[in-house]
Amino acid sequence: MRKHIVAGNWKMNTTVAEGVELAKAVAAKAAEVPAEVKLIIAPPFTHLYPVAEAIKGTAIGLSAQNCADHTKGAYTGEVAVDMIAGVGCEYVILGHSERREYYGETSAKLVEKVKLALEKGLSPIFCIGEKLEEREAGRHFEVVTEQVKDVLFTLTAEEMSKVIVAYEPVWAIGTGKTATAEQAQEIHAEIRKVLAEKFGALAEEISILYGGSCKPSNAKELFACPDIDGGLIGGAALKAEDFIGIAVSF
Ligand code: PGA
Repeated sequence: MRKHIVAGNWKMNTTVAEGVELAKAVAAKAAEVPAEVKLIIAPPFTHLYPVAEAIKGTAIGLSAQNCADHTKGAYTGEVAVDMIAGVGCEYVILGHSERREYYGETSAKLVEKVKLALEKGLSPIFCIGEKLEEREAGRHFEVVTEQVKDVLFTLTAEEMSKVIVAYEPVWAIGTGKTATAEQAQEIHAEIRKVLAEKFGALAEEISILYGGSCKPSNAKELFACPDIDGGLIGGAALKAEDFIGIAVSF
């Protein structure tokens, strides 16, 4: 069976103190979540060390929100995979649409980052998704297929087995507009079909998460879809109650 995963992307929110408090609140409620659901939190870089301490001894996984495309050296402001792994991260979000859009991350750059993360033993949470104008032009399947092929098709099957995919339609992120369960399911199934072209039966084992205004009130319907294996949660991950409310929706 595929892993069920609910991951919280805190983005650029909370102070360190607030972040530690939030992590503790999530940890305190984690027992409410069925054991087969993996919880992951992705705080800002500055919070990783104290948050790792705060969730020590729990089953909650720690993720960074990005990493550098080089291993070390003169790259002012960047954070390397070694540093992330060194503070206890097991995951790293890569290719989020905000990074693609505001920081010019291309597929070529993402190939580097995904490979470096995998070499360090980190599991990338690799994000894909179409923009509103692409969906309106009926190009959503084409866009996500290209995003998958450009980056994930460069991996070996062994590497791919460590990757978590997150489908996040850009028009649904932080907008309050969620994809309908039908819209999400059909594209998740398509993503899995594309993965199967290259990786065969392994595609059935890859967790594909939905992201974009996912909240306790709509998670149940989304998670009931056969190809939706969990969620990547932004806004609703900033409240322990909502984050856990989503995770109990399986
Ligand atoms: P949202 O963000 O839940 O606030 O829409 C999701 C994401 O960007 O990962």
